[in-house]
Amino acid sequence: MTDHYGRVIRYLRISLTDRCNLRCRYCMPAEGVPLRRHEEILRYEEIVEIAKAALSLDIDTFKLTGGEPLVRRDVPALVAALKNLPGTRQVTLTTNGLLLGGQLEALLAAGLDAVNVSLDTLDDGQYHALTRRDYPVAAVVAAVRQAAGRLPVKVNAVLLPETADQWLALANLAADPGVDVRFIEEMPIGKGEADPNLTADRVLAVLRGRWPDLAPCGEHRGNGPAHYYKAAGLAGRIGFIDAVTHRFCASCDRLRLTCTGTLRPCLCYDDGIDLRGILRSGAGPEALQKAIRQAIAEKPEAHCFGARHGSQQTMNTIGG
Ligand code: GTP
Ligand code: 5AD
Ligand code: SF4
Repeated sequence: MTDHYGRVIRYLRISLTDRCNLRCRYCMPAEGVPLRRHEEILRYEEIVEIAKAALSLDIDTFKLTGGEPLVRRDVPALVAALKNLPGTRQVTLTTNGLLLGGQLEALLAAGLDAVNVSLDTLDDGQYHALTRRDYPVAAVVAAVRQAAGRLPVKVNAVLLPETADQWLALANLAADPGVDVRFIEEMPIGKGEADPNLTADRVLAVLRGRWPDLAPCGEHRGNGPAHYYKAAGLAGRIGFIDAVTHRFCASCDRLRLTCTGTLRPCLCYDDGIDLRGILRSGAGPEALQKAIRQAIAEKPEAHCFGARHGSQQTMNTIGG
């Protein structure tokens, strides 16, 4: 479906839970989130009903996020259910990687198309401080390596002042042909703050010190807003997600579903439509379709990061 600004909407990000086994300082409060009652969270059957309504409007690509999606029981069953819907193009997952190794085979068997792993530093001390938990970085790197070559893997590194010495080491993970590494400008959402000094352009300049031929490759590698570069010395690609310095809203193709069933037209604004209420009122698929059309009609032209702080809701609720 096309919105008022000529953008074709074809991608739905689905947050499975707002819980997480980490407490990244830009994403979640240190004390965690108030526990939601079980009934508040969409059941898998409900997510599938929403996906069917989305598919009827040609939204055919689904991203599973959190919180940490893999803390929820039996994610492979949901992946399989979504993949089996007629018309589904892709189902992908964004995870912090800690539980990925143990679930990888089941996710692959379910038909998962790609996985993104959040990893902002390779230094244990930095990782512990920023995630406020003491898991070893090696566990995440092991999961990345285990998945590489089995399905497309992308490492997501949010740019933070304390990890600025890590850019080369993180980029070097793309020496593995199965791994792309993306640097993400921190967005002023929830606990996040944009940092004017930590821009994609600055990282690019540093990486060119090591890989002078790093140049745009114009490839689409996934369904997101990243733009990619390649260098002869790196088999994988380097990507940048620079929502703050290079607004890419004109090509935005997505909606977001929170774990409690609110459909948000944009990451930046807290407005949304309560799909859970519609589902549980017993209304049929037409009512869901109508609500999705409404969300598309209400999709703002662009984010508001420059003007003020974006959404007050924390990122674990929105799903990134
Ligand atoms: P793939 O490339 O298909 O894997 O999708 P993706 O890059 O959208 O997925 P991922 O969940 O890994 O998100 C990476 C980063 O991009 C996160 O920081 C998201 O918050 C951010 N992001 C994704 N979509 C949007 C968007 O529409 N607008 C903005 N501003 N940021 C986005
Ligand atoms: N700005 C940019 N990216 C963020 N993420 C979480 N919070 C922010 C923020 N404020 C990233 C996570 C994860 C993805 C889903 O979103 O690191 O990789
Ligand atoms: Fe958890 Fe991801 Fe938020 Fe970190 S960014 S606390 S890993 S949901």
